Amino acid sequence: MGKDVIVALDFATGKEALDLVASLGEEVYVKIGMELFYSEGPEIVREFKKRGHKVFLDLKLHDIPNTVYGGIRSLSKLGVDMTNIHMAGGGKMVSEAVRAIEETQSESILLGVTMLTSTSEERMKEELLIQKDYSLEEVVLKYATLGKENGLHGVVCSAMEGKKLRKELGEDFVLVCPGIRPKDAEVGDQVRVVTPEEAKEWGVDYIVVGRPITKAENPKEAYEMICKAFIGEEK
Ligand code: C5P
Repeated sequence: MGKDVIVALDFATGKEALDLVASLGEEVYVKIGMELFYSEGPEIVREFKKRGHKVFLDLKLHDIPNTVYGGIRSLSKLGVDMTNIHMAGGGKMVSEAVRAIEETQSESILLGVTMLTSTSEERMKEELLIQKDYSLEEVVLKYATLGKENGLHGVVCSAMEGKKLRKELGEDFVLVCPGIRPKDAEVGDQVRVVTPEEAKEWGVDYIVVGRPITKAENPKEAYEMICKAFIGEEK
């Protein structure tokens, strides 16, 4: 599994996203989330693919199984490299998403979002009512196991859970981790944050980094430092 840093392009316009990526380099793996996709539509995905970038389309589908099946079938036409659904939709929803990937012969990695990196264990128990003495790590492991059993390639989780998931779910299960903050960086709305060095140590495959790069005074320098810390070399 190729280790990489995925840059989260949380911008409202395609121009801002394209300009930022052009300043970082040709090899950048980009993440298009709901802000950019809802404002620019599928064309922005095609544009990044045309420019030779790998694209993670992060729309976190969560609906009844039949609707998610149709949604993934439509997204498959875009030829993205990675996309995702919410594990909270349950096993049947997951297996329908996997069926859509298989039927369309999509080569996209399909991931399940376990517990958002902005969710603390306290919020999980108090607001989502996931209690019964389960720790957040146990819930993430349960969701990831359910995903694997239903044919997912991997999950989105915090690198804090990376070590445990790697041990329990094997080397081939793809671990993609947002909530990355270099030491001393602003945390913002993220809660379960980890440095790129720790993410490397805990064996995750991809880290997703947004604001520490996009809002940096010198985004290229920030991107290169994070690549060096996580991949161990400059990209
Ligand atoms: O700016 P920051 O580095 O916090 O961006 C993290 C990105 O990863 C955001 O685009 C966010 O939507 C996404 N993400 C996340 N936690 C998840 C799944 C996706 O932060 N569990």
